[in-house]
Parts: sequence; C-alpha cells; structure tokens
Amino acid sequence: MQLKALNTFGIAAIAQRFVPINTLADIHCFLTNPTFQQPLPLRILGGGSNVLFCTAQINGTILHNRLRGIEVVQQDAEYVWLRAASGENWHDLVQYALRHNWGGIENLSLIPGTVGAAPIQNIGAYGVELSHVLDKLSVIDLHDGQSQTLSAESCELGYRDSIFKRTAKDRYFITDITLRLSRRPQLQLQYGDIGRTLSDMGIGDKPTIQDVSAAVCRIRRSKLPDPKELGNAGSFFKNPEIDSQQYETLKTQFATMPAYPLPNGRVKIPAAWLIEQCQWRGRRQGDAGVHQNHALVLVNYGAATGSQLLALAQQIQTDIQQKMGITLQPEVNIWE
Ligand code: EPU
Repeated sequence: MQLKALNTFGIAAIAQRFVPINTLADIHCFLTNPTFQQPLPLRILGGGSNVLFCTAQINGTILHNRLRGIEVVQQDAEYVWLRAASGENWHDLVQYALRHNWGGIENLSLIPGTVGAAPIQNIGAYGVELSHVLDKLSVIDLHDGQSQTLSAESCELGYRDSIFKRTAKDRYFITDITLRLSRRPQLQLQYGDIGRTLSDMGIGDKPTIQDVSAAVCRIRRSKLPDPKELGNAGSFFKNPEIDSQQYETLKTQFATMPAYPLPNGRVKIPAAWLIEQCQWRGRRQGDAGVHQNHALVLVNYGAATGSQLLALAQQIQTDIQQKMGITLQPEVNIWE
C-alpha cells in the first residue's frame, strides 16, 4: 500500500501491511486473531499530519483509523458533552461545535489531523489546548483487547505531551474522545495575534466564537503552508524550555530573544526564533526545506524523502545545540 496520499508531508513510502479500521468490530476482529497481528510493530495512522516516514518501506502493520461519528452524550444548562470517534477530522469537529454555538475549541480551528491524535500530543494553539476541554476518552488495549475509559486527568496532558507518548506508548487504540463544551463560552483572546486580527477584520468588542475561529484560520493561513499545496507537518520541533539561569546568560548574548515565563520558573523560547537566528529560515536542500514564512515548519517541495527531511532537521538541531546550548526535540513522530 502506497502511503504518499496518507501523510501531509507527501512522502512516498510503502506499508508492509495495511489494515483499514472502519468499525470497533474491525479492531476486535484484528486483535482476537493472533495470525492477523503480524508483522510487528503495530502502528496506528490517523490523518498522517504529525508523522515523518523515514524509510521507503514502513515495516510492521499499520492500522488506518477510519472510525466515524459525532454525538451529544450529555448536557445541562451550561455544558454539552460531545463524543467524537477518533477517525473524525479534527477541524470538522470544530466546525460542528461552531454550527451549534458550543464554545471551547474555536482557537483550535484548522489544526490538521484526526480527533484521535488530539490527546496524544495535547494539541494546542492560540492560548487553548485540548486539556482545557477534554473530559474522557475510550481506548482498546492492544495487548488484551479490553475496552477502557480513561479520564482526562489520567492522560497526564502537558505541553505537546501525554501518557500516550510515554508510559502508554503504543499500548492503546483511542476509539473516541468526549469534550465538555460551553453554551456560554469564555473567549480566549490573550494570544497577541488574535486581538490584532479581529480588529483588522473589523470585528467590534464583542466577538463570537465564529469570529475567533475566522481570526485563527486567517492567522494560520498567513503563516503556515497548506499541506495540500506544500507538504509539511506543522511545527516540526517543540518550543524548548530552559532554566532561568540559562535564559539570563543567553539574554546577554541575544538581547532580543523572545521568552515566555512558565509557572514552574522555567522559560519557554520559540524554537522558530532560534532557527531563524541561525539563518535556517527559507533554506533549502534539494526538495527538503525550512519554510520562508515560519522557521518551525519543514517542507517537502515535491520529491524529498523522509531521510532527507530528517537530515535537515538534525543539522538544525546540531547548529542550535552548538550556538545556543539548547536541545530541540521533534514534535513530529519519526517512523523508521
Ligand atoms: N518566530 C520567529 N520566526 C518565525 C516564526 C515565529 O522568530 O519564522 C517567533 C516570533 O517571536 C513569534 C514566536 O516565534 O512571536 C511564536 O510564533 P507563533 O505564534 O507562530 O507560535 P509558535 O510558538 O511557533 C506554537 C505551536 C503551533 C501553534 C502556535 C500558535 C508549538 C511547537 N507550535 O507555534 O502549533 O499553532 O504556537 O499557538 O508549540 C503545531 O503544533 O504543529 C503548530 C502549528
């Protein structure tokens, strides 16, 4: 099975074995027959928007998540609990909530990928992250086929982090998530670009969640390349956190360095700024490049291979380590 159309980098790669998952029964059927579960490893593919295929053949078995369905499971005067199957497109879910006037995820408009990927890296943008609205999720344990419900708390969501990247890595198939959305939304407008964009759009001082979504879409379209036009996976690296001592030292050298103080006393630095300072923005090696409008986005100009993009990422990491003493961690999952 050719995977080029199933990853937003547009990297050509062949799946050794490819299993479409359309229903929960497909997962149970797969897990109850041991002969199906070869070759290993088992990997789950959603929208392919946060993955880099680094080999021409992806070894093992890929389960392609195509689970569908959105429904209200509970409601009261304040909130609506909305359950969405993990194979639904994330932005479609945002639009569903907007159509019904339920607030909480409007700042997360236009994030590529599936609903099931959202908790894995606790998607976040413009001052909101999934952890603010996630109530619980359902999983099937790939070891014993048992269904379980996990509370949001037990998923230990952090900045682009959760148990699904650590202790529970590769253990579960997330089948659905339940969000608690608000009938009387508190708008999150503190992220600088949003207020500015709303006023550029001529929106007065009482924006709606639909206005906020439109502003977010406008910002994203102006900075981030559309994967349908230029292969990419959004931010390639996480924004690094450094301790305050290292920050003070670096500031004497780089006076304009932007920084966001964190409640734990550490400081978050925009990786895009570091990459730009090291002159990587807009650079290109063959068909692998660093996007001109946003230095955190690596792009495939056409025929780049995953290993070429990975080599570019590694050069950036080495450069920033040497010049700033900061280690950049990939945000994208590397499949080798
Ligand atoms: N900047 C530069 N050069 C650039 C771009 C940005 O110096 O080319 C600096 C500017 O100082 C800017 C700052 O970086 O103010 C932050 O840029 P931006 O607002 O675009 O946010 P980001 O930190 O680069 C993060 C998320 C994005 C999310 C935005 C908005 C991560 C790894 N990325 O990017 O998420 O959309 O904030 O909230 O945290 C993604 O995960 O794929 C993603 C796109």
